[in-house]
Amino acid sequence: MYWQAMFSLSSGGSNKYCVFLRIYDKEKAMNKSVVEKPDYGNWVSKKFIYIPGTISLCFFGVSFVFLALTAVAVIFFVIALYFAYARYRFSPVGGDVQTRIQELVLQHLDWDGKGKGLDIGCGNGPLTIKLAQKYAEAQFTGIDYWGKEWEYSKSVCERNAKIEGVAERVAFQEASASALPFDDGAFDVAVSNLVFHEVSSVRDKKNVIKEALRVVKKGGSFAFQDLFLWKRVYGEVDDLLQTIRSWGIERVNLVNTRDSEFIPKGLRLPFMVGTIAILHGKK
Ligand SMILES: C[S@@+](CC[C@H](N)C(=O)[O-])C[C@H]1O[C@@H](n2cnc3c(N)ncnc32)[C@H](O)[C@@H]1O
Repeated sequence: MYWQAMFSLSSGGSNKYCVFLRIYDKEKAMNKSVVEKPDYGNWVSKKFIYIPGTISLCFFGVSFVFLALTAVAVIFFVIALYFAYARYRFSPVGGDVQTRIQELVLQHLDWDGKGKGLDIGCGNGPLTIKLAQKYAEAQFTGIDYWGKEWEYSKSVCERNAKIEGVAERVAFQEASASALPFDDGAFDVAVSNLVFHEVSSVRDKKNVIKEALRVVKKGGSFAFQDLFLWKRVYGEVDDLLQTIRSWGIERVNLVNTRDSEFIPKGLRLPFMVGTIAILHGKK
């Protein structure tokens, strides 16, 4: 039936119609590739809005019987509202704070762009891909353990790299930041953004920094952003820098990025964004 219809259309005076259909399909395909956008996700998962939002609704429901529960409902409602605000501010429509924080890492990486780079805890690959766009001669690897807590995946990383036109120079691999599956000095540079404090299998997070530096070659560069000003996790800044130097690192500096003017005050405290800083230098 289909073939009959095609035959009758293409053999008669409907040739023009077939040509039109082909052009239409081509345009559709082209438009599709134009609208395909990378998905870098949001550090505030939707569940942080839905869960307190749902709890709030439940408490509002029962508050008709137990009036005192209205207060609990209001508290959960405010929590949901706050997370919605944070998600919005991190997103491209709300100021793109997430992308701008990632870009700080690139700004503090001192490198001539020759060789191989590693992004530790790459999420959906924003930093790996930005590196590949900035350094057109280099190869990059992004690793992550892609756990359930985050809405990130290797397949989305690969799709993003394809859309951004750098797929040939980047590779993504499942691995843990606590034990990187690479030889000592395997990379010319290493970067990481807001990952080290998340590595639950390592109690002393300084050891995650040490592991990251292990895979950087002697003379190579690094730029790591994390909650380095959070004393409970990393201790005093001077002690942290001294410890890193004691590992034989040639140069290490800490830059306070928490005061970057584009970070809204409302995001600083509850998200610990108020403790972010960058450790950068040369091994
Ligand atoms: C705040 S996100 C940052 C993601 C990415 N660097 C960015 O800037 O969008 C934290 C990331 O750390 C990753 N992560 C947590 N523990 C990890 C581990 N042990 N090994 C590797 N990645 C880990 C999570 O999967 C998540 O992608």
